[in-house]
Amino acid sequence: MPKVTFLPPGIEVEIVAGEDILTAAAAGDIHINASCGGDGTCGKCKVHTKGAKLQSRPTARLSEAELAQGYVLACQTPVYDDLTVEIPQEVELLSKGQTRIKTLTAGIDEWNRQLSELSADPPVVKAYLELPEPSLNDSVSDLTRITREVRRQLDVADVLIDLETTKQVPEVVRAGDWRITVTLYREAQHVRITKVEPGDTTGSHYALAVDIGTTTCSAQIIDLNSQKILAEASAYNAQVSYGEDVISRMVYAKKPEGQKVLQRKVVQTIDGLVKELNEKTGIDPAEIDVAVMSGNTVMTHLILGVGTDQIREAPYVSVFRFAPSVTSAELGFKQLFDVPIIFHPCVASYLGGDITSGIVAADVIKHEGLVLYIDIGTNGEIVLGNNEWLIGCSCSAGPAFEGAGVKDGIRSIDGAIERISIEPDTLETVFTTIGGKLPLGICGSGLIDLVAELFTAGVLDKRGKFHKDLETIRVRAGEYGWEYVVVWEQVAGVDRDIVITEVDVDNLMRAKAAVYAGITTLADSVGVALADLSEIMIAGSFGNYIKVEEAIAIGLLPDLPPDRFKFVGNCSLLGSAKAALSREILDRSAAVTRGLSYMELSADNTFMDKYMSALFLPHTDKSLFPSV
Ligand code: FES
Repeated sequence: MPKVTFLPPGIEVEIVAGEDILTAAAAGDIHINASCGGDGTCGKCKVHTKGAKLQSRPTARLSEAELAQGYVLACQTPVYDDLTVEIPQEVELLSKGQTRIKTLTAGIDEWNRQLSELSADPPVVKAYLELPEPSLNDSVSDLTRITREVRRQLDVADVLIDLETTKQVPEVVRAGDWRITVTLYREAQHVRITKVEPGDTTGSHYALAVDIGTTTCSAQIIDLNSQKILAEASAYNAQVSYGEDVISRMVYAKKPEGQKVLQRKVVQTIDGLVKELNEKTGIDPAEIDVAVMSGNTVMTHLILGVGTDQIREAPYVSVFRFAPSVTSAELGFKQLFDVPIIFHPCVASYLGGDITSGIVAADVIKHEGLVLYIDIGTNGEIVLGNNEWLIGCSCSAGPAFEGAGVKDGIRSIDGAIERISIEPDTLETVFTTIGGKLPLGICGSGLIDLVAELFTAGVLDKRGKFHKDLETIRVRAGEYGWEYVVVWEQVAGVDRDIVITEVDVDNLMRAKAAVYAGITTLADSVGVALADLSEIMIAGSFGNYIKVEEAIAIGLLPDLPPDRFKFVGNCSLLGSAKAALSREILDRSAAVTRGLSYMELSADNTFMDKYMSALFLPHTDKSLFPSV
């Protein structure tokens, strides 16, 4: 079997002859950018090779010079002999975890205030039982003794227990001298005993809340007694190595073992967060009694190991909306005790549990005025409505807002340019990077800033093309067409100039046009004028870092007064935290799933016209953007 050595970190992986370098990297848990999921279209999996003679599949993503120097696309290069693979510097930085994951610590106090106002009714409760000792006059079984008392305390008819928990009963009841604590999962028709412990352990009762993002996973540990978030942690979803967006993940899931790899990777990511929360709080993961999770429909299917092929192809049907009952052990979690995992339900293939969770957490369904709720990522998920009705849609924005699909685009890691302005007189740049590090590339919020600034400084025209007659050497003809040099190599953290090309601008314009067209199609379908919106809630971690004025300037967001925009943060995570404390939240989430009208944009014959009209800066109809 050929051996592939990855440098850095010097890991050797043996693979079956004919498997590609990307598969070898997956086997060795090594991160290689694979934005398109191994489809051969993104060119991000470029690596340098030494050793064996390789027969890559033809690609237009590498220049003749790169091929001659030994560069190949990892996903398009089968391996038959021993080989050394060098991973580019920026990928190495990412895989080493030298990344800044922005957390929500600033909002924790407000979130805790909201949690404290919920009337406590968690789906998983603990009950302390003082059981009568068995005697010749009362010789019922151990289990009957327990269920008899549970029925009395909780006023329930059916009490269930699984085999593994049953096996622990005789030892626990006797070790506790017939004083025990049972943990109970209250499902619709019955309660299920999920844990038995000697003595009174009701004082420690915790839940895990998780947002399974396509790019980032975030988790919080919740004290169910005090109704407080104790700590939170975030990490990149390890599935990122197998595709930047949900479409690419579904492409990868079709590879042999692909689905299993993706399922394992997201579980490993969350396990890592549990470990980090344990280090931060000292709370033993075994004391976590339930996990509530929310994710888009593809993420929810993938963590459960359920196929996604039918989501990718018309008519875009998911396998389920309400996830089946499942436990952490069934999904392969190593850090968690075998606890129930509850998922927020999904609405449709591209409107998932992250949205139902977010809508409920942000109280959209309590607003009398019209609310537009937008979660912008690789998919723009948009919901319009109030306390009487909801309508939603999803548009494919592509990965540009995540910094992918753009020549020098990167995710929000240390060294990513996140803010940028352009001096109108000199056309020189002033920028800041995440972590104050040397610039490595441009992340999503930086791209929005950059395009808005290039447009207002007159470097870009309204079609997104560079003016070629400007007195600056920053606009030039490059290898991939016309480009603007954002950072010269001499001051960059990579060994080349950092640029934005016309193709990049085009990608960003397509992304913003899709979102804006989605908003207007939704509003028109119910006869609502955008000016009638009382509030525009921008959810998701990306939303926290965009500047409203710049987003309006490129025509991404409607041109409305800034005070109508509200950044609501990662409401998907907040919805999971709330659901861990209150069954009513889960009921509301289910009601949103059942009551929200889903609009399939590809079936709407006005969407494409609106999209084409929005493919300008800021729009073909300038009257829609009077402030720009
Ligand atoms: Fe290889 Fe996209 S070209 S992952």
